[in-house]
Amino acid sequence: MKACPAPLPVPRPSVITRLRAAGCVFAEDEARLLAAAAETPDQLEALVARRVSGLPLEHVLGWAEFCGLRIEVDAGVFVPRRRTGYLVQQAARLLAGTGGPRRVPVVVDLCCGSGAVGAALAALAGPLELHAADIDAAAVRCAVRNIGPLGGAVHEGDLYEALPARLRGRVGILAVNAPYVPSAEIGTLPQEARLHEPRRSLDGGTDGLQVQQRVAAAAPQWLAPGGHLLIETSRRQAPRTVELFIRSGLTARVSSSGDLDATVVIGTPVPGTALGGATAWLADRV
Ligand SMILES: C[S@@+](CC[C@H](N)C(=O)[O-])C[C@H]1O[C@@H](n2cnc3c(N)ncnc32)[C@H](O)[C@@H]1O
Repeated sequence: MKACPAPLPVPRPSVITRLRAAGCVFAEDEARLLAAAAETPDQLEALVARRVSGLPLEHVLGWAEFCGLRIEVDAGVFVPRRRTGYLVQQAARLLAGTGGPRRVPVVVDLCCGSGAVGAALAALAGPLELHAADIDAAAVRCAVRNIGPLGGAVHEGDLYEALPARLRGRVGILAVNAPYVPSAEIGTLPQEARLHEPRRSLDGGTDGLQVQQRVAAAAPQWLAPGGHLLIETSRRQAPRTVELFIRSGLTARVSSSGDLDATVVIGTPVPGTALGGATAWLADRV
């Protein structure tokens, strides 16, 4: 993970023409990025050929721009979306009200993919005790490269099972972009996602909310009192995501950005409920 550098070389018109013919809407920008990534004409030809064959630009380049950072993204790993910057903004805003000189907040990027959310939070709102987790080994390898240098730890496994037990009841910010596309809608996604991102990174089950449901249900056991769960969702699914929060003993509010076409549901354990924060964790153990 690096800060994004600036000036890019001017590509040959033929490259732009080929990219445009292959359906690349931002052919000129893409051509500049590909030209900058190639050290020789042969390398440029190879990169253009991969892109024209339908591979996502980020997989061809090996990185994606996210919140002003270059996030490494290997082939077969979910490409962080611009809209997810809104999840980062909301989490950073909440972090600004926690922490302090003597308290480093614990932040978990669950379903981390490349680790983009965690890396951006560390850059925007550090210092943090940062953990990220994903079920997919390729994603974990990528996240290690992106958040390892920032002092973050990356864990592999199914949701919370991946996390060290010592984090129970201590998490200040649980930032989650889990898969939320309903299974029946996967076929309507752009080809780049459908063919080149793992199904498990997109498919949220019949109603799209199956992973979110499991995340919300166990969140009160992992959140510190006053900690926050933030889940990216779609505008259409937001009322259902809110229901999941409330059923799990969390408050819930919806925050949206028209500019980014982004929706995030944010909640905190309701104090005094059977599921409120560390209470549930303690109850598990007595
Ligand atoms: C939509 S992608 C988001 C990745 C990353 N948070 C981002 O915004 O770029 C969802 C990620 O969730 C992971 N995932 C799906 N099911 C999971 C599970 N049961 N436990 C942990 N991770 C899971 C996928 O491997 C994928 O990397």
